[in-house]
Amino acid sequence: MEYNRSEFLIETVVPEDELIISRTDLQGIITYVNETFAAISGYTSEELIGKPHNVIRHPDMPSAVFKDLWQTLQAGKKWGGYVKNMRSDTGFYWVYAEVSAVYKEGELVEYKSIRTPIRSEEKLEYQKRYDAMRREAGERERIVKYM
Ligand SMILES: Cc1cc2nc3c(=O)[nH]c(=O)nc-3n(C[C@H](O)[C@H](O)[C@H](O)COP(=O)(O)O)c2cc1C
Repeated sequence: MEYNRSEFLIETVVPEDELIISRTDLQGIITYVNETFAAISGYTSEELIGKPHNVIRHPDMPSAVFKDLWQTLQAGKKWGGYVKNMRSDTGFYWVYAEVSAVYKEGELVEYKSIRTPIRSEEKLEYQKRYDAMRREAGERERIVKYM
């Protein structure tokens, strides 16, 4: 993936009145996205379905956040957190994501996620927090430093 494109710095703002929804199988492979998810991520639903959900992972996200997500789900609990995602054109968008289990007749069948917009102060706060987390974990530093 080429990150040194000008689109990398461009934010897509998530509309207040729309939810971004996706579902995955138990391995994190996308099984469903709504139209808003496709529009915001810059992919078509056909391109997304069947792909691992990390297709939209942004390099600014510390791996500890997703480790916590999966541990929480595997413990049978609902997870909520701030996520910076990467669009198909390498632009980005911030959301607050809630991820939880989908049961059918008492059996765990899928996971679902519903995302809502966050305030610009929260984006700034979490960008700094995630930059620090990656630095402490020895993960890559923020990519814009190298551009
Ligand atoms: C229902 C559901 C929704 C998810 N949504 C996202 C998402 O919007 N962005 C993202 O980067 N990872 C999301 N993940 C986590 C990914 O599966 C993956 O763990 C993450 O992108 C980190 O990639 P990695 O596990 O390959 O390191 C979601 C997982 C589930 C189960």
